[in-house]
Amino acid sequence: MITRFTQLYIGLLVAIPCLATNGTMTKNLKVLVSSNDYPPTALKILEDHFTVLQSRYLNFGQEGSTLGREEILKLIPGCSALVWISNLPITNEILDAAGTQLKIVSTVSAGYNHCIPEELRARGMQLTNTPNVLSPAVAEVAVGLILSASRRFTENLDQVRRGEWEIGFDKVLGQDLRDSTVGIIGLGGIGQAVVKRLSGFDVARFIYSGHREKPEAKALRAEFVSQDTLLEQSDFIVAAVPLTNETKLMINKETLGKMKPNAVFVNVGRGDLVDQDALYDALKNKQIYAAGLDVTTPEPLPKDHKLLTLPNLFVLPHIGSATVRTRREMAELAANNIVNGLTGKPLLSPVKL
Ligand code: DGY
Repeated sequence: MITRFTQLYIGLLVAIPCLATNGTMTKNLKVLVSSNDYPPTALKILEDHFTVLQSRYLNFGQEGSTLGREEILKLIPGCSALVWISNLPITNEILDAAGTQLKIVSTVSAGYNHCIPEELRARGMQLTNTPNVLSPAVAEVAVGLILSASRRFTENLDQVRRGEWEIGFDKVLGQDLRDSTVGIIGLGGIGQAVVKRLSGFDVARFIYSGHREKPEAKALRAEFVSQDTLLEQSDFIVAAVPLTNETKLMINKETLGKMKPNAVFVNVGRGDLVDQDALYDALKNKQIYAAGLDVTTPEPLPKDHKLLTLPNLFVLPHIGSATVRTRREMAELAANNIVNGLTGKPLLSPVKL
């Protein structure tokens, strides 16, 4: 006989999964999106599950550090998760204002040096980032920088703009990728994607340095070497490592001094990997051939910065992941990390704190 109690019990069994999957159960949780330029598809993922608050301002540049910051401080109290869309730093002030129910910070970037990871760990919070989805786009920019720097695009474009072309058989000659040695500092997702993309350029040898050999290297025919060997033997050097205490200023007077005079250095990691004064000197004195940077310190680089006077430097405004598809995929991954984190499922791309 089905009693009223049994009916109620069966009713609950049916209802609870529905509530959990349609998000009603989690609608009382608040999630803050830190910038007004978060893609709609990613916003929808969050809105399907949570009460979403969103800053009315950009979380970048001057607007981000003034109006954006005030707005975040106003909105964050009581939030359980924060989607951080910015290269601006997360501060203790923001974490304090949030309160202890803040469980997860989801940065819409691969790099997380701006997210005070030690502080998040100390507060028992979780951090997620968006690696891998951006590797192809960043690697394309690395290849672009290799070509732009080695084929002297900065001075060549300048000639076109001035209408004063240096015409002649031996003018504006660059360096070949063909038969070269390409050294990757950090054969992670981005480094591997760079090697794959360069595989059609007849590169003679790929070498890489890092903490340990990578299993993926074999298929890429990339050889593990010490950092010194990489610096001394590479014709092209690509820095594709995250910024940590260990990697900070790893490209400095000493390491630049180990590079070949024809070396082309490319940075798609973070500006602070490089001692920019030392790089300036090395380029100015033609101690190395050229450099291509997608990342600098600071960002934006002031327009009168001495680096921008160098004809053998090609600089981009940190556009590594800036394609429509990649930014959307990064934003959606960040949103799904929060959905999982707040509904008790494994995080998709946790940062080990
Ligand atoms: C990142 O996500 O860390 C990249 O630098 C973006 O271009």
